[in-house]
Amino acid sequence: VWLTGLSGAGKSTLALVVVEQLARTGVDTEVLDGDQLRASLCSDLGFSAADRDTHVRRVGFLAEMLCRHGVLVLVPVIAPYLSSRQAVRRLHEVSACPYLEVHVATPLHECARRDPKGLYAKAGRGQLRGMTGVDDPYEEPVEPDLRVDTTDVSVGSATGQVLDLLERRGLLRGCCHVRGHGSVPTQ
Ligand SMILES: Nc1ncnc2c1ncn2[C@@H]1O[C@H](COP(=O)(O)OP(=O)(O)O)[C@@H](O)[C@H]1O
Ligand SMILES: [Mg+2]
Repeated sequence: VWLTGLSGAGKSTLALVVVEQLARTGVDTEVLDGDQLRASLCSDLGFSAADRDTHVRRVGFLAEMLCRHGVLVLVPVIAPYLSSRQAVRRLHEVSACPYLEVHVATPLHECARRDPKGLYAKAGRGQLRGMTGVDDPYEEPVEPDLRVDTTDVSVGSATGQVLDLLERRGLLRGCCHVRGHGSVPTQ
């Protein structure tokens, strides 16, 4: 489940709450967070178009591998380019692993207002180049499985929408109960 969107949109926040909810249900989950991966698996990569693409493909490779072993993987990673996300989708299709796209569509002005990492302020001062949505492109998903703008939506409600999506797509099978989201039949 790829959560794509601008920096500060709420991707990591939503992924962590969803995973916390799922942990109580017995679903095997993992979060592959962009920032953590950039500090480890992808520490050799920067923010050029080629490096951003490589970053997304590497994370996609790892997600698909985990998925094949039955892990529900949440991926809060900006993934600004359609072509990189498309490559990850194809990789999943080959092994019949479900790939869902959640567009955390919080608009730029709200992301910049939140500015949890101070990056928009830095970009505004000219101290940071290549900021996605400012002076680097963000290509919006055309037909995401879910689009959620968190501007006027609580974290609880937004994560509820993600959980509902997972339930609708049958990805919570085998678990018994997601708090606040009804019973899911155990197989
Ligand atoms: N409804 C909401 N959903 C998600 N995050 C929200 C919401 N309302 C406010 N926020 C805040 O917005 C910020 C989003 O940061 P983060 O999750 O790190 O974004 P991203 O991972 O997309 O860069 C956090 O400080 C979070 O507390
Ligand atoms: Mg994040």
